[in-house]
Amino acid sequence: MPHPDVMEKLVSLCKRRGFIFQSSEIYGGTGSVWDYGPLGVELKKNLKDRWWHAMVRARSDIEGLDAAILMHPRVWEASGHVAGFTDPMVDCKTCKARFRADKLEDAACPRKPSKHPGEHGDCALTEPRNFNLMFKTFMGPVEESASVVYLRPETAQGIYVNFLNVQQASRQKIPFGIAQIGKAFRNEITPGNFIFRTREFEQMEMQFFVDPASDHMQWFEYWKAQRMQWHRSLGLQEDRLLFHAHTPEELAHYARAAFDIQFDFGGTLGFQEIEGVHHRGDFDLSRHQEYSTKRLEYADQVNNRRYLPFVVETSVGADRTTLAVLVNAYREEAVAGEEEGRVVLGLLPSLAPIKAGIFPLTKKEGMPEFAEKLASDLRPHFPVFLDESGAIGRRYRRQDEIGTPWCITIDGQTMVDGTVTVRDRDTLAQERIAATALRDVLATRLP
Ligand code: GAP
Repeated sequence: MPHPDVMEKLVSLCKRRGFIFQSSEIYGGTGSVWDYGPLGVELKKNLKDRWWHAMVRARSDIEGLDAAILMHPRVWEASGHVAGFTDPMVDCKTCKARFRADKLEDAACPRKPSKHPGEHGDCALTEPRNFNLMFKTFMGPVEESASVVYLRPETAQGIYVNFLNVQQASRQKIPFGIAQIGKAFRNEITPGNFIFRTREFEQMEMQFFVDPASDHMQWFEYWKAQRMQWHRSLGLQEDRLLFHAHTPEELAHYARAAFDIQFDFGGTLGFQEIEGVHHRGDFDLSRHQEYSTKRLEYADQVNNRRYLPFVVETSVGADRTTLAVLVNAYREEAVAGEEEGRVVLGLLPSLAPIKAGIFPLTKKEGMPEFAEKLASDLRPHFPVFLDESGAIGRRYRRQDEIGTPWCITIDGQTMVDGTVTVRDRDTLAQERIAATALRDVLATRLP
């Protein structure tokens, strides 16, 4: 069965509950730039922390890096972005809208949305022109061509130019990797679908340096499998994930092989790339060596060789994966015995922005004080939310909608024996647990 289109509902939930807001909304908004609110920033941070843990902390063969966004402009000449990071663009002289010439079938004519641009009688499309996606600005007080710098369109180049710095400082031996998380900027012609394609976004990239004389394709296969496993570990449904091998037309000229990991976003968006795993050979290092005129070869002291390593890259969007996690988690359910159903974000507990809602059943008999003390005892260990207002059913619904995995209720029995009820978001099962044991019990349930 096809997965439903939940995008519109998610956009509204994300705004209402404080996950994601449109940037500069009070000024009418900025095109395809989004701000993360209190819950969104926690969700995205939990996701990035999982990636950092899996890729850097839990491994001895990958080092972390945080390179600057602004780099020497020659970097982007060497990488090929100045000459080739372009999309073909067409303008409509009638409605003044701009479209990607190669994606007209995905776009709607603004004057007649049931038609694609060019299909309506009044459409007057220009010939395609190449449009560079890099944002340009100026370094220093003078706005002249000599001071042009770019906002990086990918984080990877910061890794390449620091390859020898990191290798020598950390005394890593090939094979090893360098990983970083950071902002990237692309002046996309047709951004859209909420945080799927934006002009400012975060990437989580890792370049793994291998000996070209070794079985380097084995590393490519290894990273493909590792990365797919990581997406599954987020709870993304098995049938919503697949590999897409780049066809010869899609394959960049320097890439030896490339696979996308795609997720099924449902509705008309369907399967789309969330991560790329690319075998880039020695293209980037050899170009930086040529353009900087600095030797970037690795010195293999064991075998007394110097060489430029091959690179296997894994590149995943933090925002796009956050969207995949939200789409995957959203569900609407009937509730037995209740007229109104519930909306649930079935987030993995470790990704959920709030781990537990804490509810005193009534505002009497010492329950609010007990709840306040419990919340302040748990807060240093997990984000919790104390909610004293409204019927208990409504308080459950509010937490279900933001993906809180457990709701803890303080009731009359708590005041007698110190136990509380813990209600599971997904099974709705309730169990009584001693309040003093809660911290340890919940910690074991946070995968
Ligand atoms: N260094 C390789 C590289 O940047 P890419 O396929 O262009 O490869 C990698 O980008 C990932 O970055 C994509 O799979 C996607 O998750 C994310 N990404 C790329 N452009 C994006 C955009 N405009 N908005 C949001 N995420 C984007």
